[in-house]
Amino acid sequence: MVQATPFLLVLFLALGAHGASVKKCNLIGRWVNDLGSNMTITTMNGNGVFAGSYHTAVTATSNEIKVSPLQGSLQKSPNQKGQPTFGFTVNWTFSDSITVFTGQCFVDDDGKEVLKTMWLLRSRVENIKNDWKATRVGINVFTRLQSQE
Ligand code: BTN
Repeated sequence: MVQATPFLLVLFLALGAHGASVKKCNLIGRWVNDLGSNMTITTMNGNGVFAGSYHTAVTATSNEIKVSPLQGSLQKSPNQKGQPTFGFTVNWTFSDSITVFTGQCFVDDDGKEVLKTMWLLRSRVENIKNDWKATRVGINVFTRLQSQE
């Protein structure tokens, strides 16, 4: 019994740490990224199809920024080991552009959820000759916005 106690303690801690990374990474909720943009994911169905809204802090246009809808998909394969990958599209309501994001939800060393993403922003250009300059690429890191309660 005395010998079993440290073993059980290590097992408990290992399972606890693993459990933490599996249980978190729920995309539902409010997120803020390194640019100060806010994203809210409101719905997620059983197949991992989700929707929400995106309030960007910046724009490549001179238009007034408006909250825009997003639709996405979370990887839900049966052998999912937590920290899932996902992708979503933001269809900007105030410009002719579309942004696609792809990323992964991680749980960091402090147990905090972090969404590491890359994006492609496709702007509309008038002429096929301008296609070469129509797509921007970048990264964004999102953290969960704590509720005010
Ligand atoms: C536009 O300028 O046509 C629409 C807004 C684009 C905002 C981009 S999307 C990638 C990057 N991440 C953000 O949070 N905002 C910018």
